[in-house]
Amino acid sequence: MSIKKAYNDWAEGYDINSNKTIDLDKKASMETLRNFNFSKVIELGCGTGKNTAFLLEKADEIIALDFSENMLAKAKEKIKDERVVFKKRDITTSWNIKNDFADLVTCSLILEHIKDLNLVFKQVSETLKNDGIFFVSELHPFKQYSGSKARYETEEGTQELETHVHHISEYIAVAEKNGLKLMELKEWFDEDNKSEIPRLIGLVFQN
Ligand SMILES: C[S@@+](CC[C@H](N)C(=O)[O-])C[C@H]1O[C@@H](n2cnc3c(N)ncnc32)[C@H](O)[C@@H]1O
Repeated sequence: MSIKKAYNDWAEGYDINSNKTIDLDKKASMETLRNFNFSKVIELGCGTGKNTAFLLEKADEIIALDFSENMLAKAKEKIKDERVVFKKRDITTSWNIKNDFADLVTCSLILEHIKDLNLVFKQVSETLKNDGIFFVSELHPFKQYSGSKARYETEEGTQELETHVHHISEYIAVAEKNGLKLMELKEWFDEDNKSEIPRLIGLVFQN
């Protein structure tokens, strides 16, 4: 099944069914982004708007991109605020956003679906202002090595989505290639239990 179709299917249950990765991402994103000031934001793969809501606590303008109509429909139901524009866009194609627009580009749990990270990091660097911040929150590659990937439950059983493993060195190399400097790397554990494999990796880059 294509990734887009899978998210169109998952949209109905996405906010309802409990999911450790999604819940931990919200905590990681909020705790990290709390430390930064931002006004103009690009959110990649906004999904049902789980993180758009708290970004609005600080942002004056958010462009939120996603390629799933059903995920976007859920986000638009929840978030009715003139500071947010939701756009249907495949982030591996042109975003059509002017250069130097944003002081924050943020993405949560989407890059595991993107094969060629350069297609994304290049546009991050172009659309971010000088000194702007790029925040990435993703399933930790250690978790990916042990077989974890995005999945959701249906009446027919568990559906697994197509994913790509991205090593930590790959994130750092593709960022460097596009002029983005690593500022912070944090690993996030279930219940803060550091004797287990970390679930998420959080990366903060600066343009
Ligand atoms: C796991 S969800 C994460 C949603 C949201 N960021 C969150 O943390 O709840 C991944 C989202 O990425 C979107 N997505 C995946 N590949 C994409 C692509 N190439 N372009 C745009 N959106 C994409 C999916 O439609 C889905 O809404």
